[in-house]
Amino acid sequence: MESELYRLFYPRGIAVVGASKNPSKIGHIVLKNILDGGYKGRVYPVNPTAESVLGLPCYPSVSSINGEVDVVIVSVPADKTIEVAEDVGRAGAQFLVVLSSGFKEVGNKELEERLVQVARKNGMRVLGPNIFGYVYTPAKLNASFGPPNLLPGKIAFITQSGALGIALMGYSIVEEIGVSSVVSVGNKADIDDADLLSFFLNDPNTQAVIMYIEGISDGRKFLDIASEFSARKPIITIKAGRTEFGAKAAASHTGSLSSGPILWEGVLRQVGALQVKDVQTAFDYARIFERNIKLPGPNVLVITNGGGAGVQATDTLAERGIRLSEPPKDYVDYLRTFLPPYASTRNPVDITGGASDEYYYLALRKALEHEEIHSILVLYCQTMTTNPMKTAEAIIKAVQETDIKKPVVAGFVGGPESKEAISYLSRAGIPAYPTPERAAEALSAIYLYSKRRSVVETRLAYLKTLYGKSQRLVETKIIGEK
Ligand code: ACO
Repeated sequence: MESELYRLFYPRGIAVVGASKNPSKIGHIVLKNILDGGYKGRVYPVNPTAESVLGLPCYPSVSSINGEVDVVIVSVPADKTIEVAEDVGRAGAQFLVVLSSGFKEVGNKELEERLVQVARKNGMRVLGPNIFGYVYTPAKLNASFGPPNLLPGKIAFITQSGALGIALMGYSIVEEIGVSSVVSVGNKADIDDADLLSFFLNDPNTQAVIMYIEGISDGRKFLDIASEFSARKPIITIKAGRTEFGAKAAASHTGSLSSGPILWEGVLRQVGALQVKDVQTAFDYARIFERNIKLPGPNVLVITNGGGAGVQATDTLAERGIRLSEPPKDYVDYLRTFLPPYASTRNPVDITGGASDEYYYLALRKALEHEEIHSILVLYCQTMTTNPMKTAEAIIKAVQETDIKKPVVAGFVGGPESKEAISYLSRAGIPAYPTPERAAEALSAIYLYSKRRSVVETRLAYLKTLYGKSQRLVETKIIGEK
């Protein structure tokens, strides 16, 4: 069955109300982003005072457009949005995407409610208000005033903060993380996180979701869909308002009621979501979850050319509940055939400071083939006797030759050459990070998700036996339900 939000992401036509000739106005930038992004549907600028904008004929109103319009982007001051919504209602569009600020977040709750009422009366859904727009790369659609040129990929962002969303878009370009979608939800007057999760759940272009959440209005709806989502794909949450002070700041930002940190942690754990404190960690996790690699088992092997890096990684893993066990005996025997006698063949395997690319290749290749080794963390510290790019090549060669699907994560510590090697590895499909701790933490996320997913799956199956089709997790109100 087609998702209720299908036409938001695959519109046949888009109108931009408030499209302006003035290149510094938001209505101009959004229109330019839509055109430059390569969107293939029809685009209609709407502005009663302009004849054409960016080479397209302008319409005085949406109802005067002779053509199919599924989505209307609204970039006029808040007090003009109701008349626009009424006009759009007459035109029969499905979605109003309201960029304008000046609603609930500044105490103008009535205006926001009125906007939703007009939309509902006309069978429309509202995204926003108080947003920077949205992006969906499979449809080459950038209906936002964020940066252009997003890298297409498998990660979707849902963000309640506009500024953070725009920063995330920029960061994803710098970090070379491909995105399927970025959706600014702002005040969430109508379309909310749960609605969007429902779409991304069945979206083959989305592998994982990062969410920045300040507050949830319909707790039960969120619990239901987030659980169902986590049972299939990871959710990485950056929860704002973790402290009392942050919660107050969130209230004046999007008018959200942010619940207490302990309650939140429990709720997120219950639905199987992963919680991170900052954007960097969210991206580190996203890099891991870009690929849908199943975890074959619990045994992690660490291969390193630096003892300290190995210790740091071991600590990070242990803090996240992952204990390294001794490598299998036949693997150790194999290592002994080429490693110098002073190398350590325990776990972490220290292939020594002078380790050649060949050592990395041999140690990794055999580990990939070994049934009792389930995931591998490869650490490299740049030295004058080694070359980061050559080491990266050796790692890629081992992975590609064996074609065995188990998680391999790399941590490369060093200067600009190591940074280059990190990008090279990541582009070849091996998540790589600039510190052993970040690499270890990212690997641990796969284990944590796998554990949470199986708990959620078990609970959902149990609830299904109790309530038939219903997947309700709780019968009580959890987070500030309306
Ligand atoms: N239909 C069509 N066009 C109209 C209408 C109408 N009913 N009424 C006015 N217009 C035209 C205007 O004439 C103008 O065109 P012009 O430049 O040719 O004269 C254009 O629409 C825009 O109207 P302005 O009054 O000039 O409004 P402006 O572009 O300055 O601001 C905006 C509109 C951007 C929606 C502003 O009110 C606003 O809310 N800004 C904040 C947006 C924001 O920050 N959102 C949250 C994102 S979060 C983040 O990014 C940090």
